[in-house]
Amino acid sequence: MGMAKDLSTHVGIIGAGPAGLLLSHLLHLHGIQSILIEAQTREHCETRVRAGVLEQGTVDLLNEAGAGERMRREGLIHHGIELRFNRRGHRLDLHQLTNGRAITVYAQHEVVKDLVALRFDAGGRIVFQAGQVQFHDIASSSPRITFQHGGEAYEISCDFIAGCDGFHGISRNSIPGGAVRFYEKAYPFAWLGILAEVPPASNELIYSNHERGFALSSMRTPTISRLYLQCDPHEDLAVWSDSRIWEELHRRFETVDSFRLNQGPILQKGITSMRSFVADPMQYSRLFLAGDAAHIVPPTGAKGLNLAAADVYVLARAFDSWYRSGNSALLDRYSETCLRRVWRVQHFSWWMTSMFHRFPEGDEFDHRRQLAELGNIASSRAAATYLAENYTGLPFDLPEELAQTSWPTHSL
Ligand code: FAD
Ligand code: PHB
Repeated sequence: MGMAKDLSTHVGIIGAGPAGLLLSHLLHLHGIQSILIEAQTREHCETRVRAGVLEQGTVDLLNEAGAGERMRREGLIHHGIELRFNRRGHRLDLHQLTNGRAITVYAQHEVVKDLVALRFDAGGRIVFQAGQVQFHDIASSSPRITFQHGGEAYEISCDFIAGCDGFHGISRNSIPGGAVRFYEKAYPFAWLGILAEVPPASNELIYSNHERGFALSSMRTPTISRLYLQCDPHEDLAVWSDSRIWEELHRRFETVDSFRLNQGPILQKGITSMRSFVADPMQYSRLFLAGDAAHIVPPTGAKGLNLAAADVYVLARAFDSWYRSGNSALLDRYSETCLRRVWRVQHFSWWMTSMFHRFPEGDEFDHRRQLAELGNIASSRAAATYLAENYTGLPFDLPEELAQTSWPTHSL
Protein backbone atom coordinates (compact mmCIF):
# COMPACT_ATOMS: atom_id res chain seq x y z
CA MET A 1 0.00 0.00 0.00
CA GLY A 2 1.32 3.47 -0.93
CA MET A 3 1.14 6.78 0.89
CA ALA A 4 -2.09 7.80 2.57
CA LYS A 5 -4.38 9.94 0.42
CA ASP A 6 -4.72 13.32 2.06
CA LEU A 7 -8.09 14.95 2.56
CA SER A 8 -8.98 18.04 4.51
CA THR A 9 -12.17 19.52 5.91
CA HIS A 10 -13.47 21.71 8.71
CA VAL A 11 -15.10 19.01 10.86
CA GLY A 12 -14.34 15.30 10.64
CA ILE A 13 -17.42 13.35 11.75
CA ILE A 14 -17.36 9.69 12.80
CA GLY A 15 -20.60 7.68 12.52
CA ALA A 16 -23.54 7.87 10.10
CA GLY A 17 -26.30 7.46 12.67
CA PRO A 18 -28.81 10.22 13.35
CA ALA A 19 -26.24 12.32 15.28
CA GLY A 20 -23.48 12.31 12.64
CA LEU A 21 -25.79 12.73 9.65
CA LEU A 22 -27.85 15.51 11.17
CA LEU A 23 -24.70 17.32 12.33
CA SER A 24 -23.20 17.09 8.85
CA HIS A 25 -26.41 18.49 7.33
CA LEU A 26 -26.74 21.34 9.86
CA LEU A 27 -23.08 22.28 9.35
CA HIS A 28 -23.73 22.39 5.60
CA LEU A 29 -26.61 24.82 6.21
CA HIS A 30 -24.14 27.00 8.13
CA GLY A 31 -21.60 26.80 5.29
CA ILE A 32 -19.22 24.55 7.26
CA GLN A 33 -17.63 21.56 5.50
CA SER A 34 -17.45 18.06 6.92
CA ILE A 35 -16.46 14.56 5.91
CA LEU A 36 -18.42 11.73 7.53
CA ILE A 37 -16.71 8.39 8.14
CA GLU A 38 -18.88 5.30 8.75
CA ALA A 39 -17.77 1.74 9.46
CA GLN A 40 -20.85 -0.01 8.03
CA THR A 41 -22.40 -0.07 4.55
CA ARG A 42 -25.03 2.46 3.52
CA GLU A 43 -27.57 -0.36 3.26
CA HIS A 44 -26.85 -1.49 6.82
CA CYS A 45 -27.35 2.04 8.20
CA GLU A 46 -30.55 2.51 6.21
CA THR A 47 -32.23 -0.71 7.33
CA ARG A 48 -31.18 -1.05 11.00
CA VAL A 49 -34.36 -1.26 13.11
CA ARG A 50 -34.00 1.07 16.10
CA ALA A 51 -36.02 3.97 17.50
CA GLY A 52 -39.44 5.06 16.34
CA VAL A 53 -40.62 8.02 18.38
CA LEU A 54 -39.65 11.60 17.51
CA GLU A 55 -40.26 14.40 19.99
CA GLN A 56 -41.91 17.59 18.85
CA GLY A 57 -38.54 19.40 19.04
CA THR A 58 -36.82 16.78 16.85
CA VAL A 59 -39.63 17.03 14.30
CA ASP A 60 -39.40 20.83 14.33
CA LEU A 61 -35.61 20.70 13.90
CA LEU A 62 -35.84 18.26 10.95
CA ASN A 63 -38.51 20.44 9.33
CA GLU A 64 -36.59 23.70 9.84
CA ALA A 65 -33.47 22.07 8.43
CA GLY A 66 -35.35 21.02 5.27
CA ALA A 67 -35.13 17.32 6.15
CA GLY A 68 -38.78 16.71 7.00
CA GLU A 69 -40.50 16.35 3.65
CA ARG A 70 -41.10 12.58 3.70
CA MET A 71 -41.57 12.55 7.49
CA ARG A 72 -44.46 15.01 7.08
CA ARG A 73 -46.08 12.71 4.52
CA GLU A 74 -45.42 9.33 6.14
CA GLY A 75 -44.91 10.02 9.84
CA LEU A 76 -47.82 9.25 12.17
CA ILE A 77 -48.65 12.09 14.53
CA HIS A 78 -49.83 10.85 17.92
CA HIS A 79 -51.65 13.14 20.32
CA GLY A 80 -51.77 10.65 23.19
CA ILE A 81 -50.41 7.46 24.72
CA GLU A 82 -52.03 4.79 26.84
CA LEU A 83 -50.74 3.70 30.24
CA ARG A 84 -52.08 0.25 31.06
CA PHE A 85 -52.03 -1.18 34.58
CA ASN A 86 -54.38 -3.24 36.74
CA ARG A 87 -55.74 -4.53 33.42
CA ARG A 88 -57.19 -1.13 32.56
CA GLY A 89 -56.11 1.48 30.07
CA HIS A 90 -55.71 5.20 30.87
CA ARG A 91 -55.19 7.57 27.98
CA LEU A 92 -52.86 10.53 28.48
CA ASP A 93 -53.82 13.36 26.17
CA LEU A 94 -50.31 14.63 25.47
CA HIS A 95 -51.59 17.32 23.14
CA GLN A 96 -53.97 18.85 25.64
CA LEU A 97 -51.58 18.51 28.59
CA THR A 98 -48.74 20.30 26.75
CA ASN A 99 -50.69 23.02 24.92
CA GLY A 100 -50.46 21.42 21.53
CA ARG A 101 -47.32 19.31 21.47
CA ALA A 102 -47.29 15.81 19.99
CA ILE A 103 -44.93 12.97 19.07
CA THR A 104 -44.37 11.58 15.58
CA VAL A 105 -43.89 7.88 14.91
CA TYR A 106 -41.36 7.64 12.08
CA ALA A 107 -38.63 4.98 12.05
CA GLN A 108 -35.07 6.03 12.83
CA HIS A 109 -33.81 4.31 9.67
CA GLU A 110 -36.19 6.44 7.62
CA VAL A 111 -34.66 9.57 9.20
CA VAL A 112 -31.24 8.12 8.31
CA LYS A 113 -32.32 7.47 4.68
CA ASP A 114 -33.66 11.00 4.33
CA LEU A 115 -30.48 12.57 5.72
CA VAL A 116 -28.12 10.41 3.62
CA ALA A 117 -30.08 11.38 0.47
CA LEU A 118 -29.98 15.08 1.41
CA ARG A 119 -26.23 14.98 2.00
CA PHE A 120 -25.51 13.26 -1.32
CA ASP A 121 -27.86 15.66 -3.19
CA ALA A 122 -25.87 18.57 -1.77
CA GLY A 123 -22.53 17.01 -2.76
CA GLY A 124 -21.81 15.97 0.83
CA ARG A 125 -18.97 13.55 1.50
CA ILE A 126 -19.82 10.31 3.34
CA VAL A 127 -17.41 7.37 3.33
CA PHE A 128 -19.21 4.10 4.14
CA GLN A 129 -17.31 0.91 4.98
CA ALA A 130 -14.31 2.69 6.45
CA GLY A 131 -11.94 0.45 8.45
CA GLN A 132 -9.33 1.04 11.16
CA VAL A 133 -10.56 4.52 11.98
CA GLN A 134 -8.06 6.26 14.30
CA PHE A 135 -7.55 9.75 15.70
CA HIS A 136 -4.22 11.57 15.95
CA ASP A 137 -3.18 14.76 17.73
CA ILE A 138 -6.66 15.39 19.16
CA ALA A 139 -5.15 17.70 21.78
CA SER A 140 -3.60 19.90 19.07
CA SER A 141 -5.32 22.52 16.92
CA SER A 142 -5.01 20.29 13.84
CA PRO A 143 -6.29 16.82 14.67
CA ARG A 144 -6.19 14.07 12.03
CA ILE A 145 -8.26 11.00 11.29
CA THR A 146 -6.83 8.02 9.45
CA PHE A 147 -8.81 5.13 7.99
CA GLN A 148 -8.80 2.46 5.30
CA HIS A 149 -11.30 2.33 2.46
CA GLY A 150 -11.37 0.07 -0.59
CA GLY A 151 -7.82 -1.10 0.08
CA GLU A 152 -6.43 2.45 0.31
CA ALA A 153 -5.22 4.42 3.32
CA TYR A 154 -6.64 7.89 3.90
CA GLU A 155 -5.83 10.76 6.21
CA ILE A 156 -8.14 13.68 6.96
CA SER A 157 -6.79 16.90 8.44
CA CYS A 158 -9.48 18.91 10.17
CA ASP A 159 -10.11 21.61 12.76
CA PHE A 160 -12.39 19.49 14.94
CA ILE A 161 -13.58 15.90 15.29
CA ALA A 162 -17.20 15.07 16.14
CA GLY A 163 -17.47 11.60 17.72
CA CYS A 164 -20.96 10.44 16.70
CA ASP A 165 -20.09 6.75 16.59
CA GLY A 166 -22.57 5.40 19.10
CA PHE A 167 -22.00 3.60 22.38
CA HIS A 168 -19.58 1.01 20.94
CA GLY A 169 -17.55 3.45 18.84
CA ILE A 170 -13.93 4.48 19.30
CA SER A 171 -14.34 8.20 20.03
CA ARG A 172 -15.08 8.09 23.73
CA ASN A 173 -12.23 5.66 24.35
CA SER A 174 -9.77 7.88 22.44
CA ILE A 175 -9.92 10.32 25.34
CA PRO A 176 -7.01 9.84 27.76
CA GLY A 177 -8.00 8.15 31.03
CA GLY A 178 -8.89 10.59 33.79
CA ALA A 179 -9.99 13.40 31.42
CA VAL A 180 -13.60 12.24 31.43
CA ARG A 181 -15.79 10.71 34.09
CA PHE A 182 -18.37 8.00 33.39
CA TYR A 183 -21.66 7.53 35.29
CA GLU A 184 -23.41 4.25 34.71
CA LYS A 185 -26.36 2.12 35.79
CA ALA A 186 -27.24 -1.32 34.50
CA TYR A 187 -30.77 -2.76 34.77
CA PRO A 188 -31.56 -6.37 35.66
CA PHE A 189 -33.71 -6.88 32.53
CA ALA A 190 -33.73 -6.36 28.75
CA TRP A 191 -36.34 -5.95 26.00
CA LEU A 192 -37.24 -8.55 23.43
CA GLY A 193 -38.49 -6.55 20.45
CA ILE A 194 -40.37 -7.73 17.38
CA LEU A 195 -41.49 -6.20 14.13
CA ALA A 196 -44.71 -7.86 12.93
CA GLU A 197 -46.69 -7.63 9.73
CA VAL A 198 -49.99 -6.75 11.32
CA PRO A 199 -51.88 -3.50 11.98
CA PRO A 200 -51.25 -2.24 15.54
CA ALA A 201 -53.98 -3.12 18.01
CA SER A 202 -54.47 0.51 18.92
CA ASN A 203 -53.61 3.66 17.01
CA GLU A 204 -51.59 4.96 19.94
CA LEU A 205 -48.67 3.46 21.91
CA ILE A 206 -49.52 1.32 24.94
CA TYR A 207 -47.10 1.10 27.90
CA SER A 208 -48.21 -1.81 30.08
CA ASN A 209 -47.25 -2.58 33.67
CA HIS A 210 -48.06 -6.25 34.25
CA GLU A 211 -47.02 -8.57 37.06
CA ARG A 212 -45.28 -10.80 34.46
CA GLY A 213 -43.25 -7.81 33.29
CA PHE A 214 -43.42 -4.70 31.13
CA ALA A 215 -44.75 -4.72 27.58
CA LEU A 216 -45.01 -1.99 24.94
CA SER A 217 -47.14 -1.83 21.83
CA SER A 218 -45.82 0.56 19.19
CA MET A 219 -45.81 0.65 15.40
CA ARG A 220 -43.92 1.70 12.33
CA THR A 221 -46.75 2.12 9.82
CA PRO A 222 -50.51 1.48 9.89
CA THR A 223 -49.75 -2.11 8.81
CA ILE A 224 -46.53 -2.86 10.74
CA SER A 225 -46.51 -3.30 14.53
CA ARG A 226 -43.47 -2.94 16.78
CA LEU A 227 -43.85 -4.73 20.13
CA TYR A 228 -41.53 -5.21 23.08
CA LEU A 229 -41.62 -7.36 26.20
CA GLN A 230 -39.38 -7.27 29.25
CA CYS A 231 -37.13 -10.33 29.46
CA ASP A 232 -34.04 -11.56 31.26
CA PRO A 233 -30.86 -9.60 30.37
CA HIS A 234 -29.11 -12.84 29.36
CA GLU A 235 -32.12 -14.16 27.49
CA ASP A 236 -31.44 -16.54 24.62
CA LEU A 237 -33.63 -15.56 21.64
CA ALA A 238 -33.69 -19.21 20.58
CA VAL A 239 -36.03 -20.09 23.47
CA TRP A 240 -38.59 -17.55 22.22
CA SER A 241 -40.55 -19.17 19.41
CA ASP A 242 -42.99 -16.90 17.60
CA SER A 243 -45.94 -18.55 19.33
CA ARG A 244 -44.37 -18.14 22.76
CA ILE A 245 -43.74 -14.42 22.08
CA TRP A 246 -47.37 -13.86 21.04
CA GLU A 247 -48.71 -15.82 23.99
CA GLU A 248 -46.64 -13.71 26.41
CA LEU A 249 -47.63 -10.45 24.69
CA HIS A 250 -51.33 -11.37 24.84
CA ARG A 251 -51.05 -11.96 28.58
CA ARG A 252 -49.20 -8.73 29.31
CA PHE A 253 -51.72 -6.59 27.43
CA GLU A 254 -54.85 -8.34 28.75
CA THR A 255 -57.60 -6.09 30.11
CA VAL A 256 -60.84 -6.54 32.02
CA ASP A 257 -62.73 -5.82 28.81
CA SER A 258 -60.93 -8.54 26.82
CA PHE A 259 -58.68 -6.38 24.65
CA ARG A 260 -56.96 -8.47 21.98
CA LEU A 261 -53.68 -7.73 20.19
CA ASN A 262 -53.67 -8.37 16.47
CA GLN A 263 -51.35 -11.24 15.68
CA GLY A 264 -49.39 -11.71 12.45
CA PRO A 265 -46.10 -12.90 10.94
CA ILE A 266 -42.99 -11.81 12.86
CA LEU A 267 -40.58 -10.11 10.44
CA GLN A 268 -37.68 -9.52 12.80
CA LYS A 269 -36.78 -10.09 16.44
CA GLY A 270 -33.96 -8.94 18.69
CA ILE A 271 -32.87 -8.26 22.27
CA THR A 272 -32.01 -4.77 23.51
CA SER A 273 -30.04 -4.36 26.71
CA MET A 274 -30.96 -1.58 29.12
CA ARG A 275 -28.46 0.86 30.51
CA SER A 276 -28.08 4.44 31.71
CA PHE A 277 -24.72 6.01 30.93
CA VAL A 278 -23.24 9.54 30.88
CA ALA A 279 -19.75 10.73 29.89
CA ASP A 280 -18.84 14.05 31.53
CA PRO A 281 -17.53 16.20 29.93
CA MET A 282 -18.69 15.42 26.40
CA GLN A 283 -15.56 17.07 25.06
CA TYR A 284 -11.81 16.62 25.15
CA SER A 285 -9.82 19.37 23.45
CA ARG A 286 -10.80 19.29 19.73
CA LEU A 287 -12.94 16.14 20.06
CA PHE A 288 -16.67 16.57 20.75
CA LEU A 289 -18.92 13.61 21.59
CA ALA A 290 -22.59 13.61 20.55
CA GLY A 291 -25.47 11.13 20.81
CA ASP A 292 -24.98 7.57 22.08
CA ALA A 293 -21.18 8.05 22.05
CA ALA A 294 -21.71 10.33 25.07
CA HIS A 295 -24.81 8.94 26.76
CA ILE A 296 -27.28 6.07 26.78
CA VAL A 297 -30.77 5.97 28.25
CA PRO A 298 -33.01 2.93 28.72
CA PRO A 299 -35.59 3.02 25.86
CA THR A 300 -38.68 3.33 28.09
CA GLY A 301 -38.79 7.12 27.64
CA ALA A 302 -38.14 6.92 23.84
CA LYS A 303 -35.35 9.46 24.21
CA GLY A 304 -32.08 8.18 22.67
CA LEU A 305 -32.50 9.54 19.16
CA ASN A 306 -34.03 12.75 20.46
CA LEU A 307 -31.08 13.41 22.78
CA ALA A 308 -28.75 12.86 19.83
CA ALA A 309 -30.68 15.50 17.86
CA ALA A 310 -30.55 17.95 20.78
CA ASP A 311 -26.76 17.52 21.11
CA VAL A 312 -25.99 18.20 17.46
CA TYR A 313 -28.33 21.17 17.42
CA VAL A 314 -26.18 22.77 20.14
CA LEU A 315 -22.92 21.62 18.52
CA ALA A 316 -23.81 22.98 15.06
CA ARG A 317 -24.63 26.38 16.54
CA ALA A 318 -21.38 26.40 18.51
CA PHE A 319 -19.28 25.54 15.42
CA ASP A 320 -21.13 28.25 13.50
CA SER A 321 -20.16 30.82 16.11
CA TRP A 322 -16.51 29.66 16.03
CA TYR A 323 -16.25 29.75 12.22
CA ARG A 324 -18.06 33.05 11.94
CA SER A 325 -16.31 34.99 14.66
CA GLY A 326 -13.51 32.82 16.01
CA ASN A 327 -15.34 32.81 19.33
CA SER A 328 -14.92 29.54 21.25
CA ALA A 329 -17.25 30.45 24.13
CA LEU A 330 -20.12 28.30 22.85
CA LEU A 331 -17.89 25.34 22.04
CA ASP A 332 -16.43 25.65 25.54
CA ARG A 333 -19.94 25.46 26.96
CA TYR A 334 -21.11 22.64 24.67
CA SER A 335 -20.78 19.92 27.28
CA GLU A 336 -22.36 21.94 30.08
CA THR A 337 -25.29 22.97 27.84
CA CYS A 338 -25.95 19.40 26.68
CA LEU A 339 -25.47 17.75 30.06
CA ARG A 340 -28.22 19.85 31.64
CA ARG A 341 -30.73 18.27 29.28
CA VAL A 342 -29.00 14.87 29.35
CA TRP A 343 -29.41 14.54 33.13
CA ARG A 344 -33.06 15.59 33.06
CA VAL A 345 -33.70 13.02 30.35
CA GLN A 346 -31.68 10.46 32.33
CA HIS A 347 -34.03 11.02 35.22
CA PHE A 348 -37.16 10.75 33.07
CA SER A 349 -35.94 7.56 31.36
CA TRP A 350 -34.98 5.97 34.68
CA TRP A 351 -38.35 6.98 36.18
CA MET A 352 -40.40 5.52 33.32
CA THR A 353 -38.28 2.37 33.51
CA SER A 354 -38.68 1.99 37.27
CA MET A 355 -42.42 2.58 37.11
CA PHE A 356 -43.20 -0.03 34.46
CA HIS A 357 -40.77 -2.94 34.91
CA ARG A 358 -40.82 -5.87 37.28
CA PHE A 359 -37.55 -5.89 39.21
CA PRO A 360 -36.24 -9.38 40.03
CA GLU A 361 -35.51 -8.31 43.61
CA GLY A 362 -38.86 -6.47 43.87
CA ASP A 363 -41.69 -7.72 46.01
CA GLU A 364 -45.44 -7.21 46.24
CA PHE A 365 -44.91 -3.92 48.09
CA ASP A 366 -42.92 -2.58 45.14
CA HIS A 367 -45.59 -3.61 42.68
CA ARG A 368 -48.34 -1.92 44.71
CA ARG A 369 -46.20 1.20 44.96
CA GLN A 370 -45.81 1.23 41.15
CA LEU A 371 -49.57 0.87 40.72
CA ALA A 372 -50.13 3.76 43.12
CA GLU A 373 -47.69 5.91 41.17
CA LEU A 374 -49.42 5.08 37.88
CA GLY A 375 -52.74 5.78 39.61
CA ASN A 376 -51.48 9.24 40.49
CA ILE A 377 -50.62 9.94 36.88
CA ALA A 378 -54.01 8.69 35.71
CA SER A 379 -55.87 10.89 38.20
CA SER A 380 -53.76 13.98 38.81
CA ARG A 381 -53.49 16.55 36.07
CA ALA A 382 -50.23 17.82 37.59
CA ALA A 383 -48.65 14.36 37.54
CA ALA A 384 -49.95 13.67 34.02
CA THR A 385 -48.59 17.01 32.83
CA TYR A 386 -45.14 16.17 34.18
CA LEU A 387 -45.07 12.94 32.18
CA ALA A 388 -46.51 14.57 29.05
CA GLU A 389 -44.05 17.49 29.06
CA ASN A 390 -41.09 15.19 29.34
CA TYR A 391 -42.41 12.60 26.87
CA THR A 392 -43.14 15.14 24.13
CA GLY A 393 -39.75 16.67 24.93
CA LEU A 394 -38.15 19.52 26.81
CA PRO A 395 -37.34 22.58 24.72
CA PHE A 396 -34.00 22.38 22.89
CA ASP A 397 -32.09 24.85 25.07
CA LEU A 398 -29.12 26.84 24.10
CA PRO A 399 -27.09 29.32 26.10
CA GLU A 400 -28.99 32.65 26.16
CA GLU A 401 -27.05 34.43 23.44
CA LEU A 402 -27.68 31.59 20.97
CA ALA A 403 -31.36 31.22 21.58
CA GLN A 404 -31.92 34.51 19.73
CA THR A 405 -30.38 33.59 16.38
CA SER A 406 -32.35 31.94 13.60
CA TRP A 407 -31.40 29.53 10.83
CA PRO A 408 -29.40 30.81 7.92
CA THR A 409 -31.18 30.37 4.59
CA HIS A 410 -30.85 27.08 2.74
CA SER A 411 -29.06 28.75 -0.16
CA LEU A 412 -25.74 28.50 1.65
P1 FAD B 1 -25.95 5.36 16.34
O1 FAD B 1 -27.29 5.38 15.70
O2 FAD B 1 -25.55 4.17 17.13
O3 FAD B 1 -24.90 5.62 15.17
C1 FAD B 1 -23.50 5.46 15.37
C2 FAD B 1 -22.86 5.09 14.02
O4 FAD B 1 -21.44 5.02 14.18
C3 FAD B 1 -23.30 3.73 13.51
O5 FAD B 1 -23.73 3.85 12.18
C4 FAD B 1 -22.05 2.88 13.64
O6 FAD B 1 -21.98 1.89 12.62
C5 FAD B 1 -20.96 3.92 13.47
N1 FAD B 1 -19.68 3.53 14.05
C6 FAD B 1 -19.43 2.87 15.21
N2 FAD B 1 -18.10 2.72 15.40
C7 FAD B 1 -17.49 3.30 14.34
C8 FAD B 1 -16.14 3.48 13.97
N3 FAD B 1 -15.14 3.01 14.73
N4 FAD B 1 -15.85 4.12 12.82
C9 FAD B 1 -16.86 4.60 12.04
N5 FAD B 1 -18.16 4.47 12.35
C10 FAD B 1 -18.48 3.82 13.49
N6 FAD B 1 -34.39 6.29 20.88
C11 FAD B 1 -35.48 7.10 20.80
O7 FAD B 1 -35.32 8.34 20.82
N7 FAD B 1 -36.77 6.62 20.68
C12 FAD B 1 -36.99 5.30 20.63
O8 FAD B 1 -38.15 4.92 20.46
C13 FAD B 1 -35.87 4.40 20.73
N8 FAD B 1 -36.05 3.08 20.65
C14 FAD B 1 -34.95 2.27 20.56
C15 FAD B 1 -35.17 0.92 20.36
C16 FAD B 1 -34.08 0.07 20.23
C17 FAD B 1 -34.35 -1.39 20.00
C18 FAD B 1 -32.74 0.58 20.29
C19 FAD B 1 -31.55 -0.33 20.13
C20 FAD B 1 -32.53 1.92 20.49
C21 FAD B 1 -33.62 2.78 20.63
N9 FAD B 1 -33.45 4.14 20.80
C22 FAD B 1 -34.55 4.96 20.82
C23 FAD B 1 -32.11 4.72 20.89
C24 FAD B 1 -31.63 5.26 19.56
O9 FAD B 1 -31.72 4.27 18.56
C25 FAD B 1 -30.18 5.75 19.70
O10 FAD B 1 -30.12 6.62 20.80
C26 FAD B 1 -29.69 6.46 18.44
O11 FAD B 1 -29.40 5.52 17.44
C27 FAD B 1 -28.44 7.31 18.71
O12 FAD B 1 -27.94 7.84 17.50
P2 FAD B 1 -26.41 8.06 17.30
O13 FAD B 1 -26.29 8.68 15.94
O14 FAD B 1 -25.83 8.74 18.46
O15 FAD B 1 -25.76 6.61 17.32
C1 PHB C 1 -40.46 2.07 19.27
O1 PHB C 1 -41.47 2.26 18.56
O2 PHB C 1 -39.47 1.43 18.85
C2 PHB C 1 -40.42 2.57 20.66
C3 PHB C 1 -41.47 3.35 21.11
C4 PHB C 1 -41.46 3.85 22.40
C5 PHB C 1 -40.39 3.54 23.24
C6 PHB C 1 -39.33 2.77 22.78
C7 PHB C 1 -39.35 2.27 21.48
O3 PHB C 1 -40.40 4.00 24.52
